[in-house]
Amino acid sequence: MRSSRLWPVAAALILAVTLALVPSGVLAQSSDPVRAGTGMVVSESWIASEAGRDVLAAGGNAVDAAIATGFALAVTHPSAGNIGGGGFMVIRFPNGQTTAIDFREKAPLASHPEMWLENGEYSAERHHRSHWAVGVPGTVAGFDKAHSLYGDMNWERIVYPAVVLADDGFVLSDRLSGSLSRFALTDGRPAATVAQFSNGGTAYAAGETLRQTDLGRTLKRIMLDGRDGFYRGETARLLVAEMERAGGLITAADLEIYEARERVPVTGYYRGYEVISMPPPSSGGVAMVTMLNMLERFDLASFGHNTAPYIHHLSESMRRAFRDRAQFLADPDFVDVSVHALTSKEHAAELGNDIQSDRATPSGVSDIPMGYESPETTHYSVVDGNGMAVSVTYTLEGGFGTGIVVPGAGFLLNNEMGDFNAGPGLTNDRGLIGTSPNLARPQQRMLSSMTPSIVARDGRLVAVVGSPGGRTIINTVMQVILNVVDFGMNIQEAVNAKRIHHQWLPDRIGIEADGASAETVRLLEAMGHTVQVGGGQGTAHSIMIDPRTGERLGAADPRNPDAGARGH
Ligand code: DON
Repeated sequence: MRSSRLWPVAAALILAVTLALVPSGVLAQSSDPVRAGTGMVVSESWIASEAGRDVLAAGGNAVDAAIATGFALAVTHPSAGNIGGGGFMVIRFPNGQTTAIDFREKAPLASHPEMWLENGEYSAERHHRSHWAVGVPGTVAGFDKAHSLYGDMNWERIVYPAVVLADDGFVLSDRLSGSLSRFALTDGRPAATVAQFSNGGTAYAAGETLRQTDLGRTLKRIMLDGRDGFYRGETARLLVAEMERAGGLITAADLEIYEARERVPVTGYYRGYEVISMPPPSSGGVAMVTMLNMLERFDLASFGHNTAPYIHHLSESMRRAFRDRAQFLADPDFVDVSVHALTSKEHAAELGNDIQSDRATPSGVSDIPMGYESPETTHYSVVDGNGMAVSVTYTLEGGFGTGIVVPGAGFLLNNEMGDFNAGPGLTNDRGLIGTSPNLARPQQRMLSSMTPSIVARDGRLVAVVGSPGGRTIINTVMQVILNVVDFGMNIQEAVNAKRIHHQWLPDRIGIEADGASAETVRLLEAMGHTVQVGGGQGTAHSIMIDPRTGERLGAADPRNPDAGARGH
């Protein structure tokens, strides 16, 4: 299908040279972003950022670079980078117009609301870890759609770096070799998973090279045949064979009819800034705009960053927006979601009306509890030389998804069906949720929290932001934006700063380790909050535009040392 077959040789040379060099961008210092005059990519893997940056340098636009980065992450960041999962892409064009690509997984045709019941009992194993937990993957269709609508560069050139990374391999870091060995050598992993991520059953050490030749062959089919290289032919055959072998639900028909959708982003306005984010089937954009609308009437800067009154007001807005999330949000192709009403200033005024300055509002026991979500996904940000901005968050849901590699095809299957509710009426005090909108139905997309976002002001691009981390995503992204808007931090400081999380239920504030003093915690407790300090929230690889010089400022989150901001 796609044009010229000659460029791969040239591209291989360029990539080989690039990989042989010391990383060209300078890694971010503690509070200094990486500066570049033209384009920037920031992702969870510096190797993938370089693949995207090279596409920009070769004349591709931000959509081309985002696709190249996404395919490269499927090789170099296997716990969440993927072709077997799904996600969202938010785009802002240089003229200020915006759009969003929804490539969230879909429930297979054989799905039904009671599918997580086994002999009448809810089965978490089936819901989150079985072949039934696999949603019809959307990533390749999403990238294909984004490219055909808005890409500039030859598709083969964009996919090729990922093929080379899979075939020739890349050198494992300390962090990745450790995470792969913990994952692949856990008892009970399928043989194809052990084969792909260990050295014949022995853990890879840091400094060794990981080659993924089955994945390389699949990526080559995608490179040559685009969408059909995944949803038809050999890749589809291998995926369906694995489903048939293990009693999974995805059929050739499910793959054939999968479609990514273009959607209208959610847009909100906060202190003069335009905040553009993902609409349903993500809850992220709606919930974040609802929170910002509630917070706008408080002088947050006067509270001081991460002080007790600041954390209190954030938590109060968070608990209210997450209550809305559980009650109203789901796939808009199946459920009527009033995005406009939920993100209106009037709704926020009503919702935030009873926020008191010094008392926590308890999340009542009869309110809607939340289900399980794991903390593994990945976000990356791209800006090109023309000011086109792309914000992508995509996921396998759990770390390494189901943990099942499709034999012969070399990619991991997601467990995204776990984001559907447990079953009709199955709301209970152990955290299951059984409300109707987000039940599994054939072809429905499961509700997400992913919040790829872009900020603009007076018609100019300001920042590209996003994060992994289940429901913490929404709060992480909002706090990076507040750090810039209310506290005047530079983008690296805004990303580095400690974050907090509240999600209605369980009714407690989570604060990252060292994120608040003992006195702050005591003051919050005196207001009636339960506070838990410790652990970390998701990364937030972001880009900001220097308003003075127009330079791209890349902020890789130091929470992951393998991350990298690469510009040119
Ligand atoms: O779509 C969602 O919201 C979840 N499946 C995302 C999972 C996640 O973020 C795990 N992350 N790090």
